[in-house]
Formats: sequence, C-alpha cells, structure tokens
Amino acid sequence: MDYAATREEALARIAAAQDLDALEKLRVEFLGKQGSVSLLLKTLGAMSPEERRSTGPQIHALREGVSDALTARKTALEGAALEARLANESVDLTLPAPEAPRGSIHPVSQVLDELAEIFADLGFAVATGPEIEDDWHNFTALNIPESHPARAMHDTFYFPDSDTEGRRMLLRTHTSPVQIRSMLEQGAPIRIIAPGRVYRSDSDATHTPMFHQVEGLVIDKGIHLGHLKWTLETFLKAFFERDDIVLRLRPSYFPFTEPSVEVDVGFAQVNGADGKSRRVLGGCGDAPGHGWMELLGSGMVNRKVIEAGGLDPDEWQGFAFGIGVDRLAMLKYGMDDLRAFFDGDVRWLAHYGFSAFDVPTLSAGVGAGA
Ligand code: PHE
Repeated sequence: MDYAATREEALARIAAAQDLDALEKLRVEFLGKQGSVSLLLKTLGAMSPEERRSTGPQIHALREGVSDALTARKTALEGAALEARLANESVDLTLPAPEAPRGSIHPVSQVLDELAEIFADLGFAVATGPEIEDDWHNFTALNIPESHPARAMHDTFYFPDSDTEGRRMLLRTHTSPVQIRSMLEQGAPIRIIAPGRVYRSDSDATHTPMFHQVEGLVIDKGIHLGHLKWTLETFLKAFFERDDIVLRLRPSYFPFTEPSVEVDVGFAQVNGADGKSRRVLGGCGDAPGHGWMELLGSGMVNRKVIEAGGLDPDEWQGFAFGIGVDRLAMLKYGMDDLRAFFDGDVRWLAHYGFSAFDVPTLSAGVGAGA
C-alpha cells in the first residue's frame, strides 16, 4: 500500500474543506473509530515484527500528518469565520447610551433592612407569621377576649367565612400574634423581631389600611424593664444615627403587656431654609424649643400571654414592643404623607427610593448613602 499517496490525497481533501461541518466529516472519515486511518493502525497488531518495523512508522506518519492537517485547517476556518463576523457586525457608536437603571429600593424595604441589621447585632433573629390570622392568635391569646373594647379599637378586617376548623379569620391588626406563634413553635428563650404588614380599616394622611410594624420579643429568665429600655435606646440611637436620642417612658395600657409603657422620643423644632418648621429627633423633650413624640408601645409580656404561648410565667419573663415601620421611615427620611408610600408613583419612588448598592451594614452605617 502506498501510504504516501494516501496521505497526499487526504491532505488535499482536508485543504479543500470549505467549512467546519465538512471538516468534521473528514475527521470522522479518517480518524473516527471506524475511520480509514484508524483501521490501518489496527492492522499493525496482526503484522510480523519485521513488517511492523517497516510499515509502522509509515502508518504513524500518515496518522500524524492527517491529524495535524485537520487541526491547521480547523484553526484557519475558525479564523475566517471570525473575520467574516467582524466584517459583518458593526457597533453604531452614535446610538444613545442605555438608560441608567430605573428601579430603586422602597423606603419601607430599606428601613426593614436597617432594622434587621441593627437587631441582628443585638442577637435577635427575624421571625414571621401569616397576614391572614385567626381570632385566637390575633386577640384571645394576647389577652384580648371576645368582649374586650380593644377589638373594636383595632378596626379589624374580618373575613365573611370561618376557616375549615370553624375559626373566625381576619387580616392581622398587629404583628403581636407572632409573639404567640414564636413561643409555641420554639419555646424559650426567645430573642426575635417580627416585621411585616398589618391591616386596619383606617385612612388619612398618617393612616393607611395596610401598614408595616416590627414586633420585638425577648423571653428569658430575670428579664426586667431595664432590659427593655436599654434595648430600645440602643436600637433608636443606631437607627437614627444620633447619640443624643432621649427616651421618655410613660405608663400606658395594652392587654398583652403588664406593666405597659408608651415610649416617647425627644425632638427639636427647627426652622428649615424653606421657612417651614421641622421636627428633628434628638435632645430632651423638656428642653426649650423641644417636645416629645410618641414612638412606640411596649411593656413586660403579660403572664397570661406567656401561658398562652405554652410557657410557665413563673419561670420565664420577657418584654415586647411594637413600632410602626412606615412612621420610622417618615421620621428618618422626611416624608410627610403616608399614603404616597403605597401609590406606586415613579416620581416619588425615584425621589425617596434607595440605590440597591446602599445595603445597610453596621460598619458602613445603616443610613442610606452613609
Ligand atoms: N401591638 C401593639 C399595637 O399594635 C403594639 C405593642 C406591641 C405594644 C408589643 C406592646 C407590646 O399597637
């Protein structure tokens, strides 16, 4: 057999291949499992040693020549394909640049992230509960029995039908039912915040039928009001990024806490450049030009609530608080109408929204753009 001639013929056909598909067919024809060159290599095994010594190098040279030619042709064809694409495709540098990303982080989302960051640093986990609640979790377990006037005060949205177990269903009016769910699910000790949507039939410039709260709950041994005050003070100083935040604790009443404490924060009345008077948090509310603003409700968890959570109130104590998240956002970022939060007006979102790059961290500052 004339291996040199076979080789010349193969190389000629490879050189003539016009595209990568044709080249691949040739590769299979020569070097594939049943390829002509591969079959020649297999004949070596049946040869006598002398025959193999003279023929072997020729067959190997044939295989190598074909293989090299295939690679070289492949490189050439790919190069040509790239050249053709480059010649064909062009970038029109006169087109306007793409628009900057339009989306922004809603102030409520931003504040929720800030809260999670601050409380995580204090050892609090984030818990959640359903927005469609039953009467027991939202009211009864929180020491608000059927006839309690607090039920009327909550302007509850009830569902017309009961659930399959005959429970009266409603849109939760506060995040406090998560207190009960957390105790029942995880037992004690507990250190959680529970942010989320709540619903009340109410609407004006500072009330919307849906708004956001964050609940805080600590259950442990020997917990007292001092722990509550320190936690709120530490949190509010971090959130408003001011060391001069002063709190005033006022006796109050909530069925689920005993004693109950309303927390006010001191503010200064400041005249802005636009001539409008603004409230700036910080300082003692009793100082001249200052005042107190009601900020949140809190207290020591009522024994009855600890019992409803399946825990022994002689063993476990705790404190709880509930804050309006939207109100926190308004105070920190200066909006004055809550309804605009939920209008979805892109101009408002562009103005008050935050960049997705402004992720709150304690080290970089929890305030946006800090
Ligand atoms: N759940 C109360 C409300 O919605 C707030 C609160 C929470 C008060 C926890 C005390 C303790 O007004």
